[in-house]
Amino acid sequence: MRNFDEDNITQAVLDRLSGCTDPRMRRISEALVRHLHAFVKEIEPSEEEWAGAITFLTRTGQMCSDTRQEFILLSDTLGVSMLVDAINHRFDEGATQTTVLGPFYVEEARDFPLGAHIAHESDGPGLIVEGTIEDSRGNPIAGALIETWHADDRGFYDVQRDTGKSALDMRARFHTDQEGRFWYRSVVPAAYPIPNDGPVGAMLDAQGRHPFRPAHVHFKLSAPGFETIVTHVFIDGDPYLDSDVVFGVKDALITNLSRIEGRVSPGGHEVESRTSLIAYRFVLPDKTIS
Ligand code: BEZ
Ligand code: FE
Repeated sequence: MRNFDEDNITQAVLDRLSGCTDPRMRRISEALVRHLHAFVKEIEPSEEEWAGAITFLTRTGQMCSDTRQEFILLSDTLGVSMLVDAINHRFDEGATQTTVLGPFYVEEARDFPLGAHIAHESDGPGLIVEGTIEDSRGNPIAGALIETWHADDRGFYDVQRDTGKSALDMRARFHTDQEGRFWYRSVVPAAYPIPNDGPVGAMLDAQGRHPFRPAHVHFKLSAPGFETIVTHVFIDGDPYLDSDVVFGVKDALITNLSRIEGRVSPGGHEVESRTSLIAYRFVLPDKTIS
């Protein structure tokens, strides 16, 4: 076939996929072609605009490094990461709600004993995090793995420092005790702008959007026989809770940051004076067989 025009080119490309033997690949390719062509037909880009779009994607790739993932930022800021998250975590109501992983997760964080102080390079206001991990029937899950990470009181992650991944800080791995409890000491994290000195930052500017995320602590929770939960706990009262740049906030994940009076936390742990508390009860859904 020849002589392609606005009216016949979409079908011609779809026909060209008829030899694809992997049904999932074929379905994805067909949907990509249909939606991409519909998008172009809707916006009717000038050739300069289309070249600009290609430059944008090229720069997005070029911005990526070991410690910077511009494509994750693009997916997050366009709401695609939260959409993929919602589709893949249709858990029962009682389960802890999930949210974006984000670009600052580091797999090779260190194991710490319960109670450890995990902020070594920051002298921000003191924090104790006290959590429990339960199953959907309310039984504690002993030995569950907690991976946690957060920004400092100025809104920066360790990997954004000059040291990159060589000096990990404010991130750790713990295991729950026999009662499904975990606790650790750190500093109170601040709200922060996502990295906005690249193409995604320029896109947010052009769209008239701010780059901020409300203050939060990240958790990845896993245990044999249970679904892994990737989530955050957000601090109530943060001015960005209703305009999170990556659409990650859910009411059930917001908790008070309370100031502990005296030198013992509600969980019975000794703390410095003026320490704040984040307490949260996590519920892991049973593994679904798929
Ligand atoms: C984060 O919470 O670490 C994050 C999530 C999405 C984009 C940027 C940062
Ligand atoms: Fe974060």
